[in-house]
Amino acid sequence: MRDRAVDPRVSILKDISPLLTSVLDTDSVLEMIIESVTRLMEAKASSLLLVNKSRNKLYFQIATGEAKEEVKKFEIDMGQGIAGHVALTGKPLLVPDVSKDARWDKTISEATGFETRSIACVPIKSGRDVMGVIQIIDREDGQPIHEADMEILSHFSELASVAMERARNYKDIVNENISLKKELESRYEIIGVSKAIETVISDAVKVANSKTTTLITGESGTGKELVARLVHKIGPRRKRKLMVVNCAAFTDTLLESELFGHEKGSFTGAISRKTGVLEVADGGTLFLDEVAEMSPSMQVKLLRVIQEGTFNRVGSASPMQVDIRAIAATNKNLFEEVQNGGFREDLYYRLNVVHIHIPSLRERRDDILVLAQHFLDKYKYIRGPSNLSFSPNTIEVLQNYHWPGNVRELENAVERAVVMGGGGHIEPEDLPFSVVPSGDTAQELLGCTLKEALDSFKRDFLQRNLDHQGSSVKETAKVLGIQRTYLSRLISKYALTTRRSR
Ligand SMILES: Nc1ncnc2c1ncn2[C@@H]1O[C@H](COP(=O)(O)OP(=O)(O)O)[C@@H](O)[C@H]1O
Ligand SMILES: [Mg+2]
Repeated sequence: MRDRAVDPRVSILKDISPLLTSVLDTDSVLEMIIESVTRLMEAKASSLLLVNKSRNKLYFQIATGEAKEEVKKFEIDMGQGIAGHVALTGKPLLVPDVSKDARWDKTISEATGFETRSIACVPIKSGRDVMGVIQIIDREDGQPIHEADMEILSHFSELASVAMERARNYKDIVNENISLKKELESRYEIIGVSKAIETVISDAVKVANSKTTTLITGESGTGKELVARLVHKIGPRRKRKLMVVNCAAFTDTLLESELFGHEKGSFTGAISRKTGVLEVADGGTLFLDEVAEMSPSMQVKLLRVIQEGTFNRVGSASPMQVDIRAIAATNKNLFEEVQNGGFREDLYYRLNVVHIHIPSLRERRDDILVLAQHFLDKYKYIRGPSNLSFSPNTIEVLQNYHWPGNVRELENAVERAVVMGGGGHIEPEDLPFSVVPSGDTAQELLGCTLKEALDSFKRDFLQRNLDHQGSSVKETAKVLGIQRTYLSRLISKYALTTRRSR
């Protein structure tokens, strides 16, 4: 009889064993399990799913690999997919080629774009009870997992089971995970399918747990306030207030008293003592909209609040202390403002610790129709029960329009079309803007004078080129083969929109 070669990984397993079973803090145990198994199996990605008995579901608790953040948004039914199958049967399972296995549920891999060839799952058990599932996807080098790997993986799962059983508060962690899921669900209030909006949302989710000052930029109507609200809502400050202050809406003195409050008689008109927004937002979040409009003297005071958490009520000599998370937004290029001397450099760096930029709607055209449909669903009941829909022409117009007012303009356009239009379809003429369709332009322009037709074409052509070059006058002029100065004149003649003009 031939000696069976001993898997060199057995010695790694022996090394891990005492470590793993000595840790009692559940979080650390879970992390260690997933770290060890990834190393042991040289896995491309691995994840640990925990079972929630009362809901009959599995949650991703920890994941590694490129899609590790995204997979956490998913929950799986018991029995669903390969991990769900293992949770149900309590037996290890290797699927060397997922595309040939009916049990494979490709929802997650399709949603995350994570390529998957093979999957191995082993249960983590307490007696006969399945507490969770360890899932391995492929090997680092892209090769599938082999039957030969399963023995060591099964040994590991036994070890992990012991470690898990020893760790306390396992139940608490499952419950925590459920509330995390609920928070993540609120992200769906932000509609969009583009990569750009996905990045914005995942950045917002990442910063939500910290106190880090965050700057949100983007043209007007792109959803800056919506994102700020998301950050507040899913972070630890959610039980406290989110206060929104639009810096452009106040004069200097009024902004100061709005933010800091004032003592009675501190200025003419201060007939009683007023509590400032900062006090109300203590422990919560302050959203400063249009922060670029703040005067230099207010900028200094804001810097102090952000750095030290202190401020003085107007007319008071004793400083007050607050715990505030600040989120600022602007549709200006704040860095340019700094260079022009309109905005303090030190404040800029303070605000800009994390920067989330929301691209304009025309830069993420994938979102246009889902947003339009979302707003149609929201407003169509104004007309009573209805199955109102967009006509194919309208869809084309919506898709090709340049949306200078972004999502806000789209929402208003759909609302108006619902109110103004008749019939079962929304037609292009129900929309509030005039449109040059991208199809047969000459046909569309029949009835215009030559000058009108040329102007119409020029306007549309120039706008599209500008948009295509990211509003760069220099690049657009180069592509069109004209002087920059001439293009600038055309921009004002045709009232074209560029990022700077919005
Ligand atoms: N991705 C989105 N999904 C759903 N509604 C959106 C989205 N982006 C913006 N909106 C809506 O568009 C309007 C403008 O958004 P807002 O956050 O006020 O923009 P901004 O602060 O950038 O001017 C709001 O009614 C908001 O709810
Ligand atoms: Mg706004």
